[in-house]
Amino acid sequence: MNERIPFLNIEFLHKPLEQEFINAFRENLSNQEISDSNVVKAFEQEFACFCGTRYAIGVGSGTDALRFALIAAGVKYGDMVITVPNTFIATTEAISQAGAMPVFIDIDEKTFTMSPDKLEEYLYKNCFVDHITEETIHTKTGKPVRVIVPVHLYGHIADMDKIKQIAEKYDLTVIEDACQANGAVFYGKNSIKKTGAIAKAGAFSFYPANNLGAIGEAGAVTTDDEQMADKIKMLRDHGQKRKYNHEFEGYNGKLDTIQASILKVKLQYLNIWNDERRKLAKKYKEMLKGIKQIETPCEKPFSKSVYHFYVIRCNYDRDKLREHLKRKKIGTGLHYPVPLHLQKAYRFLGYRKGCFPFCEKASEEILSLPMYPGLKEDQQWKITEQIKKFYDK
Ligand SMILES: Cc1ncc(COP(=O)(O)O)c(C=O)c1O
Repeated sequence: MNERIPFLNIEFLHKPLEQEFINAFRENLSNQEISDSNVVKAFEQEFACFCGTRYAIGVGSGTDALRFALIAAGVKYGDMVITVPNTFIATTEAISQAGAMPVFIDIDEKTFTMSPDKLEEYLYKNCFVDHITEETIHTKTGKPVRVIVPVHLYGHIADMDKIKQIAEKYDLTVIEDACQANGAVFYGKNSIKKTGAIAKAGAFSFYPANNLGAIGEAGAVTTDDEQMADKIKMLRDHGQKRKYNHEFEGYNGKLDTIQASILKVKLQYLNIWNDERRKLAKKYKEMLKGIKQIETPCEKPFSKSVYHFYVIRCNYDRDKLREHLKRKKIGTGLHYPVPLHLQKAYRFLGYRKGCFPFCEKASEEILSLPMYPGLKEDQQWKITEQIKKFYDK
């Protein structure tokens, strides 16, 4: 009864695969292909096939994936890129590193993802379409708005049909930040697609704690666009297609062979693990039913979520509940406690408290509970019992 329940446990996934990992590692000890190896190419093909895209380009991290996708989509110095303030800072770092300025849009209260209504309102009130260049221009600054980056937060897909419709109206490119939603399925008006295949490109992180994680840093971009795929391949490799022929300055952002070989093993289990996460989410929902001080996550009909995080909303005393769970040796997380527009790093953008009320309210109420394949029913029971006990008091 006094067992510790950590917020994250990847050992459970890795233990049964240990021998496969060791074999993969051994094979690489004599591998002379230092970059763009056959293992990387094979993983890229398998991942593209998994997502349902023509191309997947392995890169060094999710941040690389976002940065390269933005640059390949034509983002340049002085542009503006639209995203949400409740995401990991990597989303906006990638925007800034591509030379653009991040612009925030508030979220939908239920899904925590970009609100299409707020997006439309922002564009309508603050931008105009230049009828000569057909660019969308921000009226006050005269800067072009180029891309929208919806974030599929916690494994739930953003309202992509509506977002894409607005993007079309303003001739903007949409790039999915799919770092937290590997394998989630979108039931759109006209098609059913996996994340990474819903918009122009998708950016994935294989950070170890993600639904598909490497044992170190790794990421990928998915796209159907050949030109974009070619550009990303050059961006990740110092702007070269042929060795020592640098057409522009790029980055050192390649996916390394060891990580690709680990990912190849783990990709085979991703659907099974995602199904297990969904079962755990269903159990949590049943067990938490009737606690009126909290709300369990909503799943819109258009999104088959992969529950990267299981985030409840606490209408009362979130921090005290968190303390209580900590005392009972139950790990929890906050994703994210301070919205990006209120971070010191973005003070220069001029936002202040009150700019994005839904996001700000969410940051005070959210609590991520343990969620990973291997979490046991009796552990979930212990977690939910402790939440009940806390609110009963
Ligand atoms: C929403 C989101 N975007 C981007 C990233 C960046 O990924 P990485 O840490 O692999 O650079 C993460 C990290 O998991 C993330 O959660």
